[in-house]
Amino acid sequence: MTGYPLDPSPEQMREMGEAALGYVIDFLARRVTAPASRFEGAEEVARAHVEPPPDLGGAFPPLLDLMETIAQHSADNAGPGFLAYIPGGGLFASSLADLLSTTIDRYVNLWGEAPVAAAIENNVVRWLCDLFDYPPESRGVLTSGGSLANFSAIVAARKALLPENFLSGTLYVSEQVHASVTKAAMLAGFPTRNVRAVAVTPDLRLDVDDLRRMIAEDRAGGLAPFAVVASAGTTNTGAVDPIEACADLCAAEEMWLHIDGAYGGFFQLTERGRERFRGIERADSITLDPHKGMFLPYGTGGLVVRDGAKLREAHFVGAAYLQDLAADADIPNFAEYSAELSRDFRGLRAWFPLKLHGVSAFREALDEKLDLAEVLYEELKADPNLELPWTPDLTVVPFRLRDGDDQANRRLLAAINASERVFLSSTVVEGRFTVRACILSHRTHRDRIDECIRIVRDAAAELA
Ligand SMILES: Cc1ncc(COP(=O)(O)O)c(C=O)c1O
Repeated sequence: MTGYPLDPSPEQMREMGEAALGYVIDFLARRVTAPASRFEGAEEVARAHVEPPPDLGGAFPPLLDLMETIAQHSADNAGPGFLAYIPGGGLFASSLADLLSTTIDRYVNLWGEAPVAAAIENNVVRWLCDLFDYPPESRGVLTSGGSLANFSAIVAARKALLPENFLSGTLYVSEQVHASVTKAAMLAGFPTRNVRAVAVTPDLRLDVDDLRRMIAEDRAGGLAPFAVVASAGTTNTGAVDPIEACADLCAAEEMWLHIDGAYGGFFQLTERGRERFRGIERADSITLDPHKGMFLPYGTGGLVVRDGAKLREAHFVGAAYLQDLAADADIPNFAEYSAELSRDFRGLRAWFPLKLHGVSAFREALDEKLDLAEVLYEELKADPNLELPWTPDLTVVPFRLRDGDDQANRRLLAAINASERVFLSSTVVEGRFTVRACILSHRTHRDRIDECIRIVRDAAAELA
């Protein structure tokens, strides 16, 4: 050790760094054959790890062992067999970017401190704006995830359209909306009754006629309808709300249209996605989650706003101790557009893979996921023991036993997950327990989906 234990010597850094990199490469090689999930004994192991930090430091190898203990007692959210909830990613290029960016540890949220870093993060944000044909005055921020992006969007809409006393303001979501939108409205100060749940059509998309009726009724009742949140892919079933019709209605009613594209937004890179999201460029704001559709590690969400000034008006508070820093300019002061001040350099985590692999690699991976969802849907639909009530808009494939109650479907899910080759989750649709497979990991390919089909069919036959 040097005289300053918090700063290891170059030799120590090399030894620890090489051991960590060795572990990473080995882990990634084993990932394909590793269990999709393994929870046996996990709670006991977790409890055995509850401890305060030691007063005196120890060695590095046990910390690497800890990674393996974590990995072996969990679901691999970013593995090829993970089809539950919304899969994660974790591109290797992003891991390297994180190591490098946390090492130089530059401050990116006020551009004057590290202009090149801020310009690179802004490249990512501009690319996101361009993806949705947003105009030059659009702005955006990288957030910690979709929840924070939805929160900032609702705060921006509230600030733009409602008076300071905003409690008569109402916003409209479909029954299928992600809970983070309701939470965002709550955190933005609205009573939950102001979040109006609009009915859905049989394909589980927001019913625009019901939306129109509710807005008219609420206006007549003295309320102030100000925003509609439509989903570019719901979490439950991947349904895409009728965005164009929502945009028409919002334009006529002078309301803010926010699109929650946390799950599905990046399918805009594909032809099929663009087709399904027609009209999305008319939305006032769009949530994206690069830690989903761009396969980045957790901690990377995004929000783009068509009129960027509105995002800034909702978030900017000046401070005397920041007066030496450069003013917001063509490179934005991201802190003035977001709820955060100090934070990680998220842009690099996205920029490295974009530069290393090119946009086309992402387009192809997402197209592959759409193809895989079609295969899974068609193959399961052909099984007489299963029913698939909804054709996937994107890559969520919901299904149930044709003649099974909720208990039987619960058993179906347990039997599928017991395979440890795939890991699926469930939801409730139309009051019924429904199993769903969501294909979004860049590591999931045709071989694993074929395996999934076999596992689901066998489990269904056993329970039929
Ligand atoms: C449609 C949708 N919106 C919002 C979120 C919340 O995003 P995050 O978990 O990144 O906060 C999710 C997460 O799964 C989602 O699927």
